[in-house]
Amino acid sequence: MTFRLAQISDTHLSDRVPGFRANFDLLADHLRASRPNLVINTGDISLDGADRAEDLAFARVAHEELGLDWLAVPGNHDIGDDPLPGCRQPANAERLARWRAHLGPDTFVRDVPGWRLIGLDTQITSTTLPEAEEQMEMLVEALHGTSGRAVAVFMHKPLCQERMDETESTYWCVQSRPRHRLVDLLLPQRPAFIANGHVHQWRDRGISEGLRQIWGPSAAFIVGDAYQETAGEKAVGYVEHLLHPDGGFETRMVPLPGLVRHDIGEMPEIYGPQKRLAA
Ligand SMILES: [Fe+2]
Ligand SMILES: [Fe+2]
Repeated sequence: MTFRLAQISDTHLSDRVPGFRANFDLLADHLRASRPNLVINTGDISLDGADRAEDLAFARVAHEELGLDWLAVPGNHDIGDDPLPGCRQPANAERLARWRAHLGPDTFVRDVPGWRLIGLDTQITSTTLPEAEEQMEMLVEALHGTSGRAVAVFMHKPLCQERMDETESTYWCVQSRPRHRLVDLLLPQRPAFIANGHVHQWRDRGISEGLRQIWGPSAAFIVGDAYQETAGEKAVGYVEHLLHPDGGFETRMVPLPGLVRHDIGEMPEIYGPQKRLAA
């Protein structure tokens, strides 16, 4: 039987932004009606869980109310980001503990017919937290026990934009060092696809090393052209993955009529003024 998986992402939930909540409610109604076998939120589930426990709690309740099986991995707005110079909310032990208290583990391994689904926490990969190494060990174990299953990986940030050997350090992708560690572990297993959020754009493309990287769009907002380059499609919606027991799959973006395509560039009251791209 085909397993229907709904990948939702970047819901940025909080009781302080009714517009994002309204988009989530519309998405939730759709999911309650279509009843996928599993919902995975690929991060930024909350508006500002990195500093506000109440946003994590709010997001959790909203997801519980789906009445569906669901999993989530954290994004930068949930537990912070790579501890690079100038990072306002670095991922740290306190933030990770807060996620775990409200939303449970920050990684997962879930077997469904013919498939192993692996959820990773991209937000701690550049930190010195012991959990970063524990995650690598978890991944090694998860990849070695697949017994012929196809593998799909879910994470917040994409591994890279176009090529695994990119050296530029950006806000948008996993940093180069942890990327290479992850790729070295993943490549021998040839994952069917790696699905992420974070970019707030939809894209389904083969990238270097023969990996297929699927960017899930946000359900809440896009980042306007003045503030972010277009590398995929700036749409709001979610992604449906149909996973067949023989390892075959189909993926499509579902743009729900009625979802408002908010532009965070026009909403400085939420995260402050966005940094404009150089002209
Ligand atoms: Fe996001
Ligand atoms: Fe993000």
